[in-house]
Amino acid sequence: MAPPLSLPCSGERCRGVRKVLAAVAFGFVAAAAASMYDDVEMVWGADHSFFYMDGDVDTVALCLDETHGSGFRSRDAYLYARFDIDIMLVANNSAGTVTSLYLMPEDVPWEYHDEVDLEFLGNVTGEPYTLHTNIFANGVGGREQQFRLWFDPTADFHTYSIVWNPKHIMILVDGVPLREYRNEAARGVAFPTWQKMKVQGSLWNADDWASAPPPGVAWCGDEPPESPWFEQQAAGDAAALRRAREEHMLYDYCADANRFKHTGLPVECTPASN
Ligand SMILES: *[C@@H]1O[C@H](CO)[C@@H](O)[C@H](O)[C@H]1NC(C)=O
Repeated sequence: MAPPLSLPCSGERCRGVRKVLAAVAFGFVAAAAASMYDDVEMVWGADHSFFYMDGDVDTVALCLDETHGSGFRSRDAYLYARFDIDIMLVANNSAGTVTSLYLMPEDVPWEYHDEVDLEFLGNVTGEPYTLHTNIFANGVGGREQQFRLWFDPTADFHTYSIVWNPKHIMILVDGVPLREYRNEAARGVAFPTWQKMKVQGSLWNADDWASAPPPGVAWCGDEPPESPWFEQQAAGDAAALRRAREEHMLYDYCADANRFKHTGLPVECTPASN
């Protein structure tokens, strides 16, 4: 099937939408012969979005104006997967905008809510974005970590990845692991293990949350959950994760002793005794 809409990839990504305040583009390397439109659907703000080819990459541009933003989700849901999404963020004055990339199940009660969340918080012209991340499992979130990117995310596409397998969840930027959340169910840490999630992307205005909402799937693991392969992956990343902490981390809930002074640190923030 041909891409439904092909637009030039210039500064006018969102032409046709009047008074565009901000635009972001998500690129997907199409798997096999499928076009991206076969993989994702608009959830809201369809009139504020465009599918087009950026070179040979299927791309969706999301736009935001005074009335609303826009968002998409994958048509399929996945239990364990690796998602690699190329994103070019809103340039110039992006203060108040939030570009999100997240995994979420559909139609589950809050106590079963799982979510892996990347939010790019815009800034005024010339000032850097913040990458805000969070992980929810069984309805409990509050696991915020924030990072400063080491490049201008508005100048070009960069690859943002979520790896989710039975051993851990990893967040990577251009292949650099920034965050790992390990499956430590054995010591009572909640971890998403049983429900499928859809990958979603959106652009919205944080100043106006009321009118706002709330892929390119590279592979879906054939690897059995107990495969040592997952552990090897994690072990190789330990040094890189430490470096990312030192060089790029702005905030870590696990290091926020004041916040948890009455409750004690969440279990996953305490050393495992083994
Ligand atoms: C905006 O830039 C300022 C100055 O560099 C920085 O302190 C602040 O954290 C940035 N805000 C966001 C939302 O990233």
